[in-house]
Amino acid sequence: DVTEKIVVAIDGPAGSGKSSVSKGAARELGFAYLDTGAAYRALAWMLLDRGLDAENPEVVVASLPEFDFAIGTDPDHYFVKVGPDDVTIAIREPWVTSEVRLVARLPEVRSHLTALFRRTIASTPRPGIVVEGRDITTVVAPDATSRILLTASEDARMKRRSAEIVGSTAAVVGEQLRSRDRADSRVVDFMNAADGVTTVDSTELDFGQTVQAVVEVVTLARTKA
Ligand code: DC
Repeated sequence: DVTEKIVVAIDGPAGSGKSSVSKGAARELGFAYLDTGAAYRALAWMLLDRGLDAENPEVVVASLPEFDFAIGTDPDHYFVKVGPDDVTIAIREPWVTSEVRLVARLPEVRSHLTALFRRTIASTPRPGIVVEGRDITTVVAPDATSRILLTASEDARMKRRSAEIVGSTAAVVGEQLRSRDRADSRVVDFMNAADGVTTVDSTELDFGQTVQAVVEVVTLARTKA
């Protein structure tokens, strides 16, 4: 029954620890995990892989019916596929990251992927699902059981990102992060919590504490329901 499924919607900027925290919370709760950014990345990957012009909106929209996307929603078996190709690693490459905004800015792409996410949410066999992205609390699942905006100070996000990327410096990573956030927030506002959305600020929290904070928000919503 779709209506009874517990949906935890989590939005936030790059470097907020959103993906690992969402996955951690899903594990703890015994829920499924859906990474929506992976779909935007996989679409950008497909266009680049086929030599299609991602800058041309008509080309991007025309490719949507051929976008054969599959994602693992078990937090312990995460994978991303496009047709027969496993692109789990490839979609994290800088050449994909820098092109993804070209597809994410198009309304036709967003509605196509939103429909796909809703089908995935409805068909997952688990009692609940943690869905993570930029517009989950506002567009994909505004009626979710719990809606969370995961934030962290720019300084904290920069430090986490540069620790992840080998050989990077905080200055370079900081500039990349700022420019990504600028471009991303032109498409959807994920910097400010929408009405009824709980903000979890991870600036002063470690990974485990952040997961706990998210789990607490979910537990609270369940006892209220
Ligand atoms: O979270 P991420 O870095 O994997 O997201 C990749 C890109 O997709 C990023 O530029 C923002 C965009 N995105 C989006 O527009 N809406 C979502 N629900 C998820 C991601």
